[in-house]
Amino acid sequence: MRSQPILPLLLAIRAATATPLYPFRFSPEYAEAQKLADPTYGPIPGESDIYNTYWGLDRPFPGNISGPIFPTECGPPGVDDWTWQNLLSAEWLIFEFYQQGVERFSPEDFVAAGLPETTHRRLLEIRNNEAGHLRIFQNQISPTSVKPGSCKYAFPFTEPIGYLALMTVLEISSMAFLTGLVQQPEIAAGRGAMLAIAEVETRHEVWALMDIWKANPFGGPSDTIFPYANEVLDSTNAFIVPGSCPPENPEFPHPRQRLPGLSAGKDTASLTPGSKISLDFPDPNNQPIFNNHTVYYAVFFHGVLNVSVPIDTSKWPQEEMWVTIPEAFETKGVIVACVADLPGAPTKENIVAGPAVILEQPAKLATALLHGGAEK
Ligand SMILES: *[C@@H]1O[C@H](CO)[C@@H](O)[C@H](O)[C@H]1NC(C)=O
Ligand SMILES: *[C@@H]1O[C@H](CO)[C@@H](O)[C@H](O)[C@H]1NC(C)=O
Ligand SMILES: *[C@@H]1O[C@H](CO)[C@@H](O)[C@H](O)[C@H]1NC(C)=O
Repeated sequence: MRSQPILPLLLAIRAATATPLYPFRFSPEYAEAQKLADPTYGPIPGESDIYNTYWGLDRPFPGNISGPIFPTECGPPGVDDWTWQNLLSAEWLIFEFYQQGVERFSPEDFVAAGLPETTHRRLLEIRNNEAGHLRIFQNQISPTSVKPGSCKYAFPFTEPIGYLALMTVLEISSMAFLTGLVQQPEIAAGRGAMLAIAEVETRHEVWALMDIWKANPFGGPSDTIFPYANEVLDSTNAFIVPGSCPPENPEFPHPRQRLPGLSAGKDTASLTPGSKISLDFPDPNNQPIFNNHTVYYAVFFHGVLNVSVPIDTSKWPQEEMWVTIPEAFETKGVIVACVADLPGAPTKENIVAGPAVILEQPAKLATALLHGGAEK
């Protein structure tokens, strides 16, 4: 933006005088989005049924207003604004995942795939919940910071079961990601709000386990803590159409480490504890650099624990690197894996590749995803 300090000022004047003072380059969409700077504008999550029982296919508020919301006050950003901006950007992606699903597949498509008649309605309700999250996160960002708008997103699904498999991976990843993000806010009430959101994601995941996958809904005594939330978020950039975000959006995520991605190599047969997996870094333009004098570890996070397994990097990339997923872990929930230069990856700077979120439940689905497809 050319005139950073002037824009908020203009908007502050506008708010005070109610005279439309948008710089001429503002489109009508931007003007519409600017109304959302007022937290009392539009349906309020917790009060409005739009966020629960709206059965239309059009995007529910505020998902129907995709532009960024500009600051309306001058001054330093709120202490937790970066965290909420990251979360709002991620939420746009999740909201659009559900929106695209309910548009793409009809109730009959899910029934034809052998799924319960309620499936499409449940997805609409989850979509509505996610719209409520958008509004909650917009209102958590202080009036001195921009509230990011929606980008364009492309998800690799073609049929209902594959769609629901990706949903399961996204929901369980967001549960793990929120255990790290909740460690960031300085304001205690913000941490409470994040926990409340994580609980909603859990309800979505439990529904999928019971109704879609006909699996045990419980995930063991603790879900998985992974402390470096932005590293999980960074991997979701793969779903954003390059160059499609509003130019006023902040960097996503911020701060961004741009670590090499990590996944299980094609020769991996199983992802359950005790299985051997090969470590693959799928982005040819972002490969790890291993130093000859450093010992590297595959660090596996599960529940409240982490286990580090040394890896031999000396023959890579000529030879695949294989490592065994700790056998002691239960086959529940997820395992988050990364490559680090110290056991336990005590800081985010110790991580050199990853993380990969490894689905354990339902284990059959995890194996199917590994081999490029999911079936019920
Ligand atoms: C978005 O939805 C709200 C609430 O349903 C509605 O009042 C508003 O006119 C809609 N805006 C756009 C641009 O569709
Ligand atoms: C690391 O080891 C490989 C193989 O032993 C050798 O070719 C390479 O020069 C070494 N690199 C450094 C920076 O020492
Ligand atoms: C992993 O576990 C070790 C030992 O319990 C702990 O010291 C370390 O902080 C843990 N790592 C992370 C990133 O939580």
